[in-house]
Amino acid sequence: QAYNVAVLGATGAVGRRILDQLAKSTIPFDQVKALASARSAGQTVPFKDGELTVEEATEDSFAGVDIVLASAGGSTSKALAPAAVKAGAVVVDNSSYWRMNDNVPLVVPEVNSAALKDHQGIIANPNCSTIQLVVALNLVFEKFGLKQVIISTYQAASGAGKAAMDEVLAEAQARLLGEDMADLAHVLPVKGDKKHYPLAFNLLPQIDVFEEEGYTHEEYKMIHETKKIILGDKNAKDIKVTGTAVRVPVMIGHGESVYIETGDENATADQIRAILADADQVVLQDDPATQTYPQPILAEGRRETFVGRIRPDLENPGAFHLWVVSDNLLKGAAWNTVEIAERLVDMDLVRVPDQSTFA
Ligand code: A2P
Repeated sequence: QAYNVAVLGATGAVGRRILDQLAKSTIPFDQVKALASARSAGQTVPFKDGELTVEEATEDSFAGVDIVLASAGGSTSKALAPAAVKAGAVVVDNSSYWRMNDNVPLVVPEVNSAALKDHQGIIANPNCSTIQLVVALNLVFEKFGLKQVIISTYQAASGAGKAAMDEVLAEAQARLLGEDMADLAHVLPVKGDKKHYPLAFNLLPQIDVFEEEGYTHEEYKMIHETKKIILGDKNAKDIKVTGTAVRVPVMIGHGESVYIETGDENATADQIRAILADADQVVLQDDPATQTYPQPILAEGRRETFVGRIRPDLENPGAFHLWVVSDNLLKGAAWNTVEIAERLVDMDLVRVPDQSTFA
């Protein structure tokens, strides 16, 4: 059987990569549609050796479509995902809109693909910083348990979309020419917030808007999504998770400094290295003697999560520090989305159940 696939948000930084990952995937596809806003209708996007003509996405776009791969922002997904499900399509959505909905599985295939069995037509792709974190954490969790996790992120500009990347490059160029770069900030840290600051030659400790207790929405996403994915059906609701999310002037590839307290005081760094080295989806890059450690420019274009700098905490037995890097546009977005669709195909789950709350 071959499936008809629609990519919603096909002109965006993630959408273009979804098309590329789809072309390289094991999904047997027949027709592929590229959907975006009315602004882009009639443009073309590359696909395989040719190109696709972009169509405006409307509620009527999904007739005959089996799988929708969406990365067009929360408001678009809110409006169009239910229409796609009503038309009989299964939606894998990269926006944050559906992630914490109880009727929507939030999936990283290597961690919790079993959650796909209960899908009702919409499956959510987690936040980019959450995905690479849980890929590494779940392996440690399954062997040693986890009591506490504290994360500091170093997140690339591309996580805020193509306009943010362009803005940082323009700022860097202005600075190198001795010009003022402050006037060039219109998107970061958050497009819809009141103030904007340059990211070039700077760090911005704000990703998404501020919420209760001084945490940003990005920090809450990381906390709640990590718990939903890792703890899902495992009886371990008491892991403490917290963190700080920082935007750094890197184009592609998020870094994360992660402190973990395992449930085993006798766990060793060598054991953690061995577990991570054995996992297909992880590349261990951890050798101080040869200055080997994960870096964003080495992760760009790769599907795996890279882990290094693994070392025991000097005060707390059973606690460790790790450095985790991944391509936020691939494993953090486009590849994880397409990988979910691959699993749906493998598990024979490309269908909307009769009882769906969305249909
Ligand atoms: P468009 O290029 O027509 O604006 P990015 O995060 O890189 O900015 O990409 C966002 C993606 O979501 C783009 O493909 C964009 O299309 C698409 N998009 C934004 N708003 C809508 C909308 N109302 N309907 C459909 N697609 C949308």
